[in-house]
Amino acid sequence: MRIVLLGAPGSGKGTQARKLMSERNIPQISTGDMLREAVAAGSRLGQQAGEIIDAGNLVSDEIMIGIISERLARPDATNGFILDGFPRTEQQAEDLEELLDQRATPLDAAILMDVDSDILMKRLTGRRTCSLTGKLLNVYLSTQAELDECTSAGGELIQREDDNEETIENRLEVYRQQTEPLVEFYRQRGCLKTVDADGSVDAVFERLLEALT
Ligand code: AP5
Ligand code: MG
Repeated sequence: MRIVLLGAPGSGKGTQARKLMSERNIPQISTGDMLREAVAAGSRLGQQAGEIIDAGNLVSDEIMIGIISERLARPDATNGFILDGFPRTEQQAEDLEELLDQRATPLDAAILMDVDSDILMKRLTGRRTCSLTGKLLNVYLSTQAELDECTSAGGELIQREDDNEETIENRLEVYRQQTEPLVEFYRQRGCLKTVDADGSVDAVFERLLEALT
């Protein structure tokens, strides 16, 4: 199964992609995670991308398509993948389409994680990542037991640099301007599915599985 997860920052792409990865045994390919790893490693890519990410702007299409084309060529992506955070511009969507056409492996679906914009700020300012497991948590929305599971095992709850109100505002604006048009792009190709991404993580996951049947 080859799918793209579309949706605003905080709509739950990463949370749901991780669940789907375990359920279907196909890799989650998160360009945001890949870029943050490059920043942490101090690689050339990381040096180029760091400031752009911190400002909430987009890394260039050319760099991004290069990263994705390498990643999709790895063996674990042969049986499918979940793209999380890519494509994000019309150019990226067209390049992806061309890449997949060349391999005769078209997308099965583009899933729009549809969520009321009012809740995004709370999801993003409250987000923390467990340093041990990478699990996505939230200081406002996760249960105390979920948060304790990380800290009592010796983990730290890490906040992303770009999860501050000013940068979040810009990320939301960038999404509206550059990424939202992809909803129409995929609708025209007949592979758009919309999932109501409001409600509990498990309830959203059920809807996602239903959309994929
Ligand atoms: P990226 O890492 O992709 O960030 P994003 O798109 O802003 O999306 P987020 O990761 O913030 O949100 P999410 O939808 O994954 O939500 P999550 O599941 O974590 O990109 C970061 C940056 O990298 C970009 O700004 C750009 O600079 C660069 N970049 C990346 N890809 C690029 C590309 N293709 N081109 C150019 N530049 C690129 O959930 C959020 C929070 O809500 C968590 O705390 C979670 O626990 C909680 N939550 C989730 N679902 C629920 C629920 N149902 N109920 C309660 N809480 C929930
Ligand atoms: Mg994410």
